[in-house]
Amino acid sequence: MTRMIRIFDTTLRDGEQSPGASMNIEEKLLVAKQLARLNVDIIEAGFAFSSPGDFDAIHRIAQEVEGPVICSLARAKPEDIDRAWEALKSAPKRRIHTFLSSSDIHLKHQFRMTREEALKRAVEMVQHARSFVEDVEYSPMDATRSDLSYLCDVVEAVVEAGAGTVNIPDTVGYTTPQEFGEIIRNLCERIRDKGAIISVHCHNDLGLAVANSMAAIHAGAGQVECTVNGIGERAGNASLEEIAMGLRTRKDFYHADTQIQTEEISKSSRLVSQITGMVVQPNKAIVGANAFAHTSGIHQDGLLKDKNTYEIIRPETIGLTQSRSVMGKLSGRHAFREELAKLGYTLSDQELQEAFERFKRLADQKKELFEEDLESIVNKAVTKVPERFSLKGLQVQSGLNVPPSATVELFIQDQLKSQTGTGDGPVDAVYRTIASLTETKSLLRAYIVKAITGGTDAQGEVSVRVEENGEVVTGHGSDTDIIIASTQAYLNALNKLADLVERHARAEQKIGLC
Ligand code: KIV
Ligand code: ZN
Repeated sequence: MTRMIRIFDTTLRDGEQSPGASMNIEEKLLVAKQLARLNVDIIEAGFAFSSPGDFDAIHRIAQEVEGPVICSLARAKPEDIDRAWEALKSAPKRRIHTFLSSSDIHLKHQFRMTREEALKRAVEMVQHARSFVEDVEYSPMDATRSDLSYLCDVVEAVVEAGAGTVNIPDTVGYTTPQEFGEIIRNLCERIRDKGAIISVHCHNDLGLAVANSMAAIHAGAGQVECTVNGIGERAGNASLEEIAMGLRTRKDFYHADTQIQTEEISKSSRLVSQITGMVVQPNKAIVGANAFAHTSGIHQDGLLKDKNTYEIIRPETIGLTQSRSVMGKLSGRHAFREELAKLGYTLSDQELQEAFERFKRLADQKKELFEEDLESIVNKAVTKVPERFSLKGLQVQSGLNVPPSATVELFIQDQLKSQTGTGDGPVDAVYRTIASLTETKSLLRAYIVKAITGGTDAQGEVSVRVEENGEVVTGHGSDTDIIIASTQAYLNALNKLADLVERHARAEQKIGLC
């Protein structure tokens, strides 16, 4: 018999805790809608109490994303749980996930609580969360460094108090598959017949997050917490695509599977990478650029004779198809809308208009447009931020023995300003000139370029990470001209920073008024 394992996706919560991976509300919404298409069971949309931005993102996702259960994290404190409920209440299916440590190291040094106090608090907070929702998850943080007998007591007590899922986090990525399998087997045994599910949440500090999660499934866990591309705090979380494909490919061994729509894996990976600016390493399992590339002559020979010789997963299974030219210069709005619908996008009239204009501009520069080009156009159109700074004109000079210089014309809140500056290279010249024109105090932390598709007329995609006063944003730009893409990415980041400052000011004003 095949057991169905629940996929609890935490890309928007733990994944967002990756250094520099912060997303704004529109980006979170876009990812959440893609996670729904991927058919995850639960979306952990954020940590409502942590910031007004997180609260608003959960609230919007709860209202607009259909299908999965929507969940908010909450510390084991009444005010956190109340805030999670406020953010979640419009979701048809909702879950509160509350947590407190169970290891002596954390209880003694961080929380200054005894084991008894922590257990009492856990029970009370599960009951408090149950007063709002039926579906409550409890996590004893740092479970894998906790005393096993105390951990068992906590798990039994919170199940008794009404937690339907108890998640066992390997918070610091310390455990091993054999050890973790034993812990999970013990816990499953202890709560057998109580109607609750054991979940696992593994970090990748020793590179064992997926192996530990798979061992846990083998030992009886019924839910896995994971992220797209394995992003997350420090070395990341268990990667969703590796778990889903591991189970699908080795169903014979695990006797378990997930509801994941695997054909959406590739697209989900591209989206999360593009939005967070976190590039997927080429040799990453399942979604790396080389994951299906066979270079050895012997392998290629075998594949030509029979795919089963060296291919354990068909690329189509994860949605990788031969790049398909989908549209061109003569395609009209109707065909454009149809093609987007085929790719699973439904846009508002305004977003469609914005996307169509971008499409027309790109179709003038590029002979053929591929699915990836359309994805990039749509992502830009639906995650548009208010433009405090917009580009009116750009001229760049550089070459052998020509000192790089740039003349930038910007609308800054409707006022046209222009300046010429120099730099170490053309992009540096543009960035220095923009920084001077906008008087930004922000620092450029990362600059990443990649090609969206193959070919010399491919769009270059640039992501920049910019920081000011501890706030980090990622800006994006794409164009067939890499200098223009770089300029767009920088301006996008500066606009996001300005938007963030404005949202914070509005949130503070709201709190002040209450
Ligand atoms: O890693 C961890 O322990 C967590 C918990 C909040 C589940 O992310
Ligand atoms: Zn975690």
